[in-house]
This record gives sequence, C-alpha cells and structure tokens, in this order.
Amino acid sequence: AIGSTPYMYICKIFCKVLKQKKINTMFKIFSVFIFVFSFSCMLNSQAKLTSRQRAITLLKKMTLDEKIGQMNQYAGFWELTGPPPSEENAKKKLDHLKSGMVGSMLNIKGVENVRKIQKMAIEGSRLGIPLIFGYDVIHGQKTLSPIPLAEAASWDIEAIEKSARIAAVEASAEGINWTFAPMVDISRDARWGRVMEGAGEDPYLGSKIAAARVKGFQGSDLSKPNTILACAKHFAGYGFSESGKDYSTVDVGTSTLYNVVFPPFKACIDAGVGTFMNSFNDLNGVPTTGNSFLLREILKGKWGFKGFVVSDYGTIAEMVNHGHAKDTLDASRLAIKAGTDMDMESYGYVRHLKSLVETNRVSIKLIDDAVLRILKAKYDLGLFDDPFRYCDEDNEKKMIGHIDHVSGVLDIAKKSMVLLKNDNNLLPLPKTGQKIALIGALANDKNSLLGSWRLASIDNSGISVLEGMNKYTGNSILYSKGPKLVIGPEEFVNELKINETDEGGLVEAVETAKNADIVVMVLGEHGFQSGEGRSRTNIDLPGLQQKLLEAVYAVNKNIVLVLLNGRPLTIGWAKDHIPAILEAWQPGTEGGNAIAQVLYGDYNPSGKLPMTFPKSVGQIPIYYNFKSTGRPGPKSQVFWAHYSDESNEPLFPFGYGLSYTTFEYSNLKVEKKGKQKVEVRVTIKNSGKFDGEEVAQLYLTDKIASFTRPVKELKGFKKVKIEAGKSVEVIFQLSKEELGFYKSNGVYIVESGDFDVMVGGSSTQGLTSGFTIE
Ligand code: NOJ
Repeated sequence: AIGSTPYMYICKIFCKVLKQKKINTMFKIFSVFIFVFSFSCMLNSQAKLTSRQRAITLLKKMTLDEKIGQMNQYAGFWELTGPPPSEENAKKKLDHLKSGMVGSMLNIKGVENVRKIQKMAIEGSRLGIPLIFGYDVIHGQKTLSPIPLAEAASWDIEAIEKSARIAAVEASAEGINWTFAPMVDISRDARWGRVMEGAGEDPYLGSKIAAARVKGFQGSDLSKPNTILACAKHFAGYGFSESGKDYSTVDVGTSTLYNVVFPPFKACIDAGVGTFMNSFNDLNGVPTTGNSFLLREILKGKWGFKGFVVSDYGTIAEMVNHGHAKDTLDASRLAIKAGTDMDMESYGYVRHLKSLVETNRVSIKLIDDAVLRILKAKYDLGLFDDPFRYCDEDNEKKMIGHIDHVSGVLDIAKKSMVLLKNDNNLLPLPKTGQKIALIGALANDKNSLLGSWRLASIDNSGISVLEGMNKYTGNSILYSKGPKLVIGPEEFVNELKINETDEGGLVEAVETAKNADIVVMVLGEHGFQSGEGRSRTNIDLPGLQQKLLEAVYAVNKNIVLVLLNGRPLTIGWAKDHIPAILEAWQPGTEGGNAIAQVLYGDYNPSGKLPMTFPKSVGQIPIYYNFKSTGRPGPKSQVFWAHYSDESNEPLFPFGYGLSYTTFEYSNLKVEKKGKQKVEVRVTIKNSGKFDGEEVAQLYLTDKIASFTRPVKELKGFKKVKIEAGKSVEVIFQLSKEELGFYKSNGVYIVESGDFDVMVGGSSTQGLTSGFTIE
C-alpha cells in the first residue's frame, strides 16, 4: 500500500508545495515534521495488521496438506494424560513434526524440550509455522495453588485471578503458551472425580470464577511472554455424566443446559478466552465433538466465538465407540463439520481430511475457517514474531518457584479453607503449653495435599501438615501415622489400591491420642482419588480412616478433624461427634503451612462451600438451587417428595462456612431504583472477638414464572473484611436484566412479578425481603 499510486501522488504534491518560495521556512519545517510523523504512523499501521489479517495472508500461501497439519495436535512422548497411541501412530509423530504436519503439541514442558521441538517444526515446515504448546496447567505449574474446587471455596475472585496469573507465569517460563483450563463444568455430583477441577455447583459463582481464571491466564496482552492462552472446557455438559461415572452419557434438558451448564462458558467468552475444548460425553444423543448444535449454532453462531475448538484427547476417534461414526474417517468428517478445529490425539484429521476434501465430502471452506482460527491464535501469542519467545532459560530458572508465587499460593490456600464446625471454640489452638497428637497417614504426606492434575509439579514437594505444625514450637507435637492409606500403586496413571485391611499403626495412634490435650486428625482422600477417571460410588472417608477416627474418639473427644479431599464427602458421623472440623481440601504446595496458620488462628477461616455436602450418597444429585416439586412437603403422609430413609437436607449446604468470629446481619433494605434497578443493602456486624472476612450472599426467588424456577438462586456475593466489633454496610445492585432466565428454546426473558430476596452467610440462612418487577 505504501508504494501505491495515490500515496506517490500525495508525495509529489507535498514536494512541489515545499519548493514554493512564498512559504516561509518555519512553516516548511513544520510541514516536514507533520509529513514524517504521518509517514511513520502509516508504516506502523502496516506492521500493525491484525492477527486475523496476517493469518489470512499466510493461509493463502498454504497447501491443503499444510493446512491439515495445523489442525493436528499430538501428545508429547513422555507424558500421558490419555490412553497411549498405537505403536504405528507413535512412530508417525516425529516424521509429522519434521514435515509441518503438526500444528500443536501437548504435554511437553521445559524450555530445552520446547525449544528442541519448536526448532524441529519450524525447520521442517515450508512456511516456518510455529507450534503452539498446550499443557494442563490446572492449579499451577511447579508451585501449586489449591485444587480449583478449593479455590472456589474462597469466593475471592481477585485471589483466584492472581492464582491463575501465577500459574501462567510459571508455565510460560517452562515454554508453555496454552493451558487447558479453566475447567468450567458445573457439577452436582460428588461421585464424579473431576469436581475437584471445577468451581462447584453454581452457575453464578462458576461464571465469576471462570472469567477470573481466563483473565489470570491470558493477562491483558496475550503477546507478552508470560501470558498464555486459556481454554474453556469441556463443552458441554461433562459435569452431568450419568451417575457420576466419568465419560458417561449426558442427558440434560434445555432448561438446565441454558441456565446452568452454559453460563460459565459464556462468561469465558466475555472474558476473551482464546480456545474451547470438547468433552468426552455425548449430549442428548450426539457426542459433543461432532455436535453442531453446540459448536456451530451456539458457540460460533449465537455467541460469535472467534477462537478455535480443540477436541478432547482422542474424542474424534471415540465417536466410533459412541456408535455415532462408522470409522475414524467418518468421525473426522462429523467433527470438522460440527466445528471441531483441532484434533487432539485421534490421528483422524491428519489421516483423513485430505481425502475427505478431495472427494468433496468436506468443504475446503471448513478447513480454511479452522486453520484461520488456529493461525490467528499463534499470531495473537506473538509466535510468528518470535517462535522462541517462551524459551528463555534464565527466566525459567528465575520464575519457577519464585518467592512471590510461594506466598501467593499460601495466601489462596488459607482463603480456601472452610470451617465446618467449631464447638466450644476448640479452634484456634492455643500456641503454647499443649500436648498435641497429630494423627493420620495424610498428616505427614507431602504428596496427597498437592491434589490431582499437577503434571509438572515435583512429587512430594508440598509442605506437610506435620511440617507446618512443627513451625509453631510452643506446643509439643506427637505424630502417629495410624494405618496407611493406600497399599499402592500411588502413580498418577494407575488405579490406587486403598488399604482396607492392614490395621498396623491403629493401636499406636490410639495410645498417642490418649495422653494428648488436643488431637488433630488429618484424614481424607489420597491426592489421586479424585480427578479424571476417579469416580467413586462411596464417598465416605476411604479405607480404615473412619475406624481410626472412631477409635481415637473413644479415648479422647477433644478432636480437630482436618479434611484433605478433592470432593464433598459423606462425613455424617464426624459431624455428629467431632467438635471441630476444618475442610482444607487439597491445598497445594504450601498446604501444611496454610493449615497450621489457620489452626493456630494466624488466619481466620473465611471460605464457604461451593458444593453441597450430602448426608448420604443416595441423595446425589443434591444442590441448593433445586426446583420445587408439586409436592414439596414436608407432609405427614407418604405422598410428598422425600426419602423414607434419609432427610432431604444436606449435611452442609452450599455457601456454608464458619469463622472464628461471628457475623450478625441486620437492616436489610430493598429499594427499587426506577424500573431497571434494584438496590439491596444489609449491615453486617462482626460480633465476635477476631477480625474476620465474611462472604455476604444474595439469593433471589422468582416466585411465579412461565418456566419453573429454582427455589433460590445466587445473584450476588461480596467478601468483606470486618474488624472485631465493627460493622459494614454491603450494597448489591441488581439490574432488571439479571433477573431473567433462559426459556427452553434458549431465548432469555425477564418476566414481571414478585421476587423474594435473601441475604446471609449461606444458602440456607439469611434475612429476607422482596420486590416486584413491573
Ligand atoms: C483429557 C482431559 O479430559 C482434558 O481435560 C485434558 O486437557 C486433556 N486430556 C489433555 O491432557
């Protein structure tokens, strides 16, 4: 464009004007300045073609093979997060890498490795197109934050964004530029192992967290070498896998789909997420990887998503197992037609797309659209300007385990803990003069508290509870392990064998407890008991831990139970008997320090449950925002919605969590501000002795609607710090727009009518009022 005729013409006129003697020198100097300035702006604007424009230019130069190569993603050679490839396919990886037939790699980390593979790809491809390196950066890279479900319990959006930022800085320092996170699947089923990876059961809280995590990973400028592309997964419905069994079928009605499943995904788009991932399940009869309703109609259509969609691990080929495609060729055709842009480890696109295009079964337009999206992401990341921009050894050394990251994950770990019970203020523990028995295999374990989905972390790199407690030297700590938790193997990829029989250590633990002033028992799940492929039908304390708890209780009732787990557990006996219970989840690298600081009162717990704890597994799915039935009861007869052997109530409800102090709510005021806004104010007093933080939660009930609505829905929350004895006023602004819902055809409406308002410290307790929308 610079050499174009109109531009030359303007130059000529400008020169002529300058030659005219009538014009004074000052003006000439000024004119030259203006000319040079605008010329440089012009040059600059040439360099500032958008990523999309640059991708279009490149696409025009590409052959069909080269395009298909971009749509192909392989897993690294030494780490697996899915089934291993066949020998034949494994052999192809290297050849394909060297010949430009791979667009992205996953499961490769470390600057040295990334540099090596990137070099191979660039030198091998005719157009020197860089790879994008994906990795499951789920709750940190080397320095681990608590598992995502735990972070959600903090209800601290800023802290959650910061935690994702830490993860991005460390992952990018290891050469990664794309994370397969956030996982934003809403789930109401604690049997499903992957609840540890999400934000729990609520679409409102889940949406806020989803957006924060996208922002944390991607930062404000994706081209910076410490920001990474995020991936909203798994689209969609994966959290509703039938009976909580991973990979199972999903059948959810449109009302749930639009109002519960979709909102966090939409929130990711609004936050600028660059990519989406399919899920393993079929949704209402069609595998999501080949589901054009999800991908073309909703995601790329209605929501206008401009990024690209990667399949989940092998899900294109798995459409054959679903009975939806005849073979991988057929599956590849269905997947590209539906809108899956990149094939993760199915070897389908790379093998079959060419012939599908050549025989007119797949239009080249679909290929071009997919490739454009992928190339655009690479331009956004700045990989075309410098493919090795994430490969700086010095930065890698400096950033991994950086002191700021350690303090950051410690901070969010403390904020994530939920105090479930604290009879007679047993907690916080006195700092001196106590004999404390610390009991349980998990108490001296440096691995399990790291949780699942921590591929890049170093085994046993966590601070154990024993280590954390030992830093407080005023008490004497007697540690006793009790029976071991697992018999083996403990590795990520294999099935764990939980110890159900070997009682060795039990007697000794009971003896230790006998002589103690206070017993701290650390019980829960092994770190790999939750996560992908880790569904459970029984969510009691695993193995011999319940037996241990009861045996210790028989000799010393002064027990603080610290739970380390990746999902809600059925701990009814503990709730009935144990005076103090702290839900610490799997709190990450600094876990032991965080737990000790909370137990000793150096941090006052402020977390609230993001997921309902059931009384028994038979209540599942159990969640706070259920729909009323025609027979809600309770009635004296049998004909109402209930169980004959269990109450309808949860063990601990959504939004619940105590503090070492107490909060009193008063002065709830609801005021209409014109026709479009409602303002809700409430005063919260810290009526106890400790400074503390409270999560004030606002729930609405749409009393009568053309589609049945939940008994209540979270529509706002604020986490506020309040000094002991002080009060604050919390104000919520609700716009009319937020008061609607999606009809079963996906259309959003706001209906006039009466709403109940509840504001309080959990989903089951609060002050109530109401308003009417005309
Ligand atoms: C399968 C999991 O479902 C997905 O979440 C993950 O990102 C991929 N494997 C890659 O590891």
